[in-house]
Amino acid sequence: MHMTIPSSKKAQYEQAIQELDAVLVGVEDMTAKMATISCIMKHTMRYYFWVGFYLVSDLTTLKIGPYQGTLACITIPFEKGVCGACASKKSTLIVPDVHAFPGHIACDSKSNSEIVVPVFNKNKELIAVFDVDSIIYDSFDEIDKKYLEQIMQKRF
Ligand code: SME
Repeated sequence: MHMTIPSSKKAQYEQAIQELDAVLVGVEDMTAKMATISCIMKHTMRYYFWVGFYLVSDLTTLKIGPYQGTLACITIPFEKGVCGACASKKSTLIVPDVHAFPGHIACDSKSNSEIVVPVFNKNKELIAVFDVDSIIYDSFDEIDKKYLEQIMQKRF
């Protein structure tokens, strides 16, 4: 697939969704879906620096899943970082300045803002969180939240 990357945030999401719809037809395997979503989002969304899934490993811990970007931390306890807070609260977190977030885990010091979205299965159980980091402060807003929650709801 060879498309030009559109400039507006909404247009980038619309293109990513179009590609996901085309590529994920009939795909049920969770790892295959997570790997494909990470790849398409990383290469379509211009301001994404790191993108990927942390999987719920047990009731207190997240473990790294499919991702695209620089080396990630392997394990995140629920009580640590933005990902941990998202898993505990089971709701989306938008952090305009990660350095001001208590307990933020700096896997890569280049990250300055992030959004983390909870991922539920069809039984509404939390199975993962989807984490996106940007090197630009204040990159994420209600548009990111809306589209990312929609993508996660549709795909899992
Ligand atoms: N920023 C995350 C850690 C994971 S990485 O950024 C890949 C956090 O504080 O939860």
